Amino acid sequence: MCGIIGITSNKSVSAAIINSLRKLEYRGYDSAGIATLSNNEIFELKAEGRVDNLEKNLSISNMKGNVGIGHVRWATHGIPNNINAHPHSSDTVSVVHNGIIENSTILKKFLVSKGHNFKSQTDTEVIVHLLTEYLKTDELIVAITKTLKQLHGSFALGIIFKKQPDLLVGARRGSPLAVGYGPNENYLGSDSYALKSMTNKITYLDDGEFCLLKKDQVEFFNAYGKKINKKVLELSSNEAIYDKGDFKHFMAKEIEEQPITLKNGIREYVDNINNDINIYNFPWQISEISSIMLIGCGTAYHACLMAKYWFENLTSLDITVDIASEFRYRKNKFKPSTLYVFVSQSGETADTYAALDLCNKNNAKTCAIVNVIESSIARDSNFVLPIHCGPEIGVASTKAFLGQMLILYMMGLKLGFMNKDINKIDYVNKIKDLKKLPELISQTLLTDDKIQTVTATFNKAKGSMFLGRGFSYPIALEGALKLKELSYIHAEGYPAGEMKHGPLALIENGMPVVVLAPRDDYYKKTISNMQEVIARGAKVLLITNKSKDEVFSENIWETIEVETSNNDLLPFLLTIPLQKLAYYSALKKGYDIDKPRNLAKSVTVE
Ligand code: AGP
Repeated sequence: MCGIIGITSNKSVSAAIINSLRKLEYRGYDSAGIATLSNNEIFELKAEGRVDNLEKNLSISNMKGNVGIGHVRWATHGIPNNINAHPHSSDTVSVVHNGIIENSTILKKFLVSKGHNFKSQTDTEVIVHLLTEYLKTDELIVAITKTLKQLHGSFALGIIFKKQPDLLVGARRGSPLAVGYGPNENYLGSDSYALKSMTNKITYLDDGEFCLLKKDQVEFFNAYGKKINKKVLELSSNEAIYDKGDFKHFMAKEIEEQPITLKNGIREYVDNINNDINIYNFPWQISEISSIMLIGCGTAYHACLMAKYWFENLTSLDITVDIASEFRYRKNKFKPSTLYVFVSQSGETADTYAALDLCNKNNAKTCAIVNVIESSIARDSNFVLPIHCGPEIGVASTKAFLGQMLILYMMGLKLGFMNKDINKIDYVNKIKDLKKLPELISQTLLTDDKIQTVTATFNKAKGSMFLGRGFSYPIALEGALKLKELSYIHAEGYPAGEMKHGPLALIENGMPVVVLAPRDDYYKKTISNMQEVIARGAKVLLITNKSKDEVFSENIWETIEVETSNNDLLPFLLTIPLQKLAYYSALKKGYDIDKPRNLAKSVTVE
């Protein structure tokens, strides 16, 4: 949720820290700050809002120093302002933190009783004063291990010390933290994306570990202060360092990239010679699996809901779906024959990771479907199916959603075939249809004009509904989420068949309602539901697929027809107009499309 960077170097670090903070802003942007150490003095600078504000102040300050830390914040404790911005410092140490210290109130009481003065409302500040307290009597490693032991909750930390001229310390429990190796300098970062412009050699800390970095030395320690060895990973350096290119926003670019990213995903998994789907070293016999549980948050959860329909059609396995933040606290009955699948673009979502961790503690079979293959969820799952859609920067997930659905669909196809639930002919035909999907998406992306004409009505309305049945229901939920998170308008996704059980009371004259009614098995029923809302004054935007049959209904406000495909693939196509509706609605409102208010790209706290 917050972003951390640290650098220890043979040259001044403030500019490089600011540059890295820009790459981390997608993790949070309520406030930003930097601290450097020079001539045994800690220099600290903070600003509310974006990194730009920090940089403006930086130009007027003298942020000297060859070791420093930086932070972009998504507020958890204490309002977003200068005082609560990180770093937090005493006259001994300066700290940046990502995570939540759950026992900060008790620790603060103890430290105040020891004479420590707190400036902020944050939980983080207790770390500063604990370290300061222990350093009065203990040497460095002991002070660090004692401090970390006192903390309950999650943290990724970057720390500099007034009396340690070129030392940078990192520590991790529950929130990701990576070490990067450079020429005459070394780095700390919340994720590899922040470090990629400086190095592709990365080591990830695991929970309970901490590290001591100097410009020419890196040491790792376990929670007891014992030195340990860690692997150095070489990241794929062909990952383009993204910029928006000709697009106004990352989200616009990522929507338009979907034909390419789907083609990449299909190429990664479809064996064209044998007309087969290759899930590589799947570590289990299909006979060992009788049920599958799909787990995710937000858009990833919607991909799981979508996959349930596919898996039910393609396999005889029992399929359940759960929201990660609910699953992690349930009284789950773990069975050896259940495969738990964790879907996550970032691979760092705290709730999804906690659900995975719970499964690992119960020796369950786990599989990750992620976009960031170096992520914690990927690293700690038994098996990984990467999405391969490249870094997704826009906070509102688009190409990763279609990528998640693609991997899930191919997984359902493959398991259904392995389980002999679908025959070879159907299997091969569905693979052939799947290969047409990128072109169908390209065609559907052209539905721009009508979408732009309807956004004004959505923007003026006090709320809207998105309705669908069967396959279209999860897509209705996703369309509503997109509109909510981008244009801050209330929008509700609902099963079309459920409207008569209460929500129909919401419908009033002129209310915009999106009805997803492709010509699938639910079409006629959904059209009936559509007529029910039209009869009560709704302005219906009907999204269906091209067909020679007319839609038999009057007073439809607008109709958008997506391309036609086999029914399995319609959910991909129906999503496109909904992504664009949310995008153009936010554009018309002049909102920040890539960084919507109150949100962050990777939710690494509960
Ligand atoms: C999607 O538009 C949202 N930004 C959000 O719901 C996101 O899908 C959710 O936080 C899960 O993130 P993950 O896929 O990285 O785990």
